[in-house]
Amino acid sequence: MMDDLKGKTLQTTLMHAPELGSVEIIKDALITIDHDGTISSVLKPSDPYYETALATDNLVKTAKRQYLLPGFVDLHIHAPQWPQLGKALDVPLEVWLQKHTFPLEARYKDNVFAERIYGDLVSSLLAHGTTSAVYFATIHQDATRTLADICLNLGQRAFIGKVAMDNEDQCPDFYRDADAAAALDGTRAFVDYVLSMPGNDAGLIRPVITPRFIPSCTDAVLSGLGQMAADYGCHVQTHCSESDWEHAYVLERTGKTDTEALDNFGLLGRHTVLAHSNFLSDDAMDLIHSRGSGVAHCPLSNVYFSNAVFPLRRALEKSVRVGLGTDISGGPSASMLDSCRHAISASRNLEEGVDPSQSGDQRGTSDSRISFREAFHLATAGGADVLDIPVGRFAKGCKLDAILVDADNQAASISIDETMDSQDDILQKIINGATRANISTTWVAGRTVHQQA
Ligand code: GUN
Ligand code: FE
Repeated sequence: MMDDLKGKTLQTTLMHAPELGSVEIIKDALITIDHDGTISSVLKPSDPYYETALATDNLVKTAKRQYLLPGFVDLHIHAPQWPQLGKALDVPLEVWLQKHTFPLEARYKDNVFAERIYGDLVSSLLAHGTTSAVYFATIHQDATRTLADICLNLGQRAFIGKVAMDNEDQCPDFYRDADAAAALDGTRAFVDYVLSMPGNDAGLIRPVITPRFIPSCTDAVLSGLGQMAADYGCHVQTHCSESDWEHAYVLERTGKTDTEALDNFGLLGRHTVLAHSNFLSDDAMDLIHSRGSGVAHCPLSNVYFSNAVFPLRRALEKSVRVGLGTDISGGPSASMLDSCRHAISASRNLEEGVDPSQSGDQRGTSDSRISFREAFHLATAGGADVLDIPVGRFAKGCKLDAILVDADNQAASISIDETMDSQDDILQKIINGATRANISTTWVAGRTVHQQA
């Protein structure tokens, strides 16, 4: 059993990507952690205070071929869709919502069902190394509070929203807020619940204002939630320009793109997370950048529901803040390592193109690819920056949210040979090949929240 790391000094090989495009790997680093799980120093063997820091009674050492990485920040998860992971992927978004997803989400009016599913979801995500999770829950007050309670108990850093959806034209009778007032009052009640949760003084759990997406909501709810976001200053999440159908629906109803419409409703702020955002014009990207909102890029879900590949490189060039999301269950994997891999392969497909009947110079969009280093950054520090939280990198003042990757696990699918692999190669092998079986321990703010049996 690896210890809690609060008040300890950890000696380990660390690998992180604090800035987009580069990684830092430190062999035998010393990380000192204070009693509330905050990093107080990160030392290399060549640093003057290294030997002094090493002479402590509170030293914890990791084994050879164990590597400390920042925990993953998953910017987009539908918690109630956990039982649907890996199925119902054969119809378009608008059919999938009505036929599969709304009937499943409606079941969370049963809080016993919610407790069972959410407990399994959160412990599974911790085992996959997701230390910060941004969740859509359902319209239900009790079940959404249950999700918050479970995250607090199991120790996952979580951003949680009661879903608001009141539009009779788009939401079925069996799964809809009764009216605009119910959507707004329910949102406010959940935000207040989280802000006064006993045991949440450190803000591990945060409330998120969550209009599902423009099609699900009336204008009254969208503008009411925009006002609420300004009043509370809390995070906002929604879906933006996800698919052809969704983008066209919003254009027809509002005469605007999702980005402009959300901005007019007051929903595009410094703490807004926009899922997908595939169909963004240059102007929309500029607007998102100027408001300081971030994008949750969900590459695997986009394969099934989005009709297109998110222009990630273009967004990064415009300095739009981007992180990655699994979009459980639109994306059929709970693993942020899979999100990294799919972000890389989607960017390659975009660059090369996909239609062999086109000539090579016509087929793709040049300069679209991202590297494994960039994907690693987006899944950790990039996501943290979208949320404005001090995690995702090993630096003084950041919380010790981390995973220990064990490259030697026999059940796993990476193999390391130190006579042939550089440290950078080892990180590349981890990003491309590690699985849940390699994640031996997960910590949030220095607390051990998962330990492999
Ligand atoms: N748009 C509105 N709701 C959803 C959802 O649950 N999943 C995805 N991928 N898109 C949505
Ligand atoms: Fe989604």
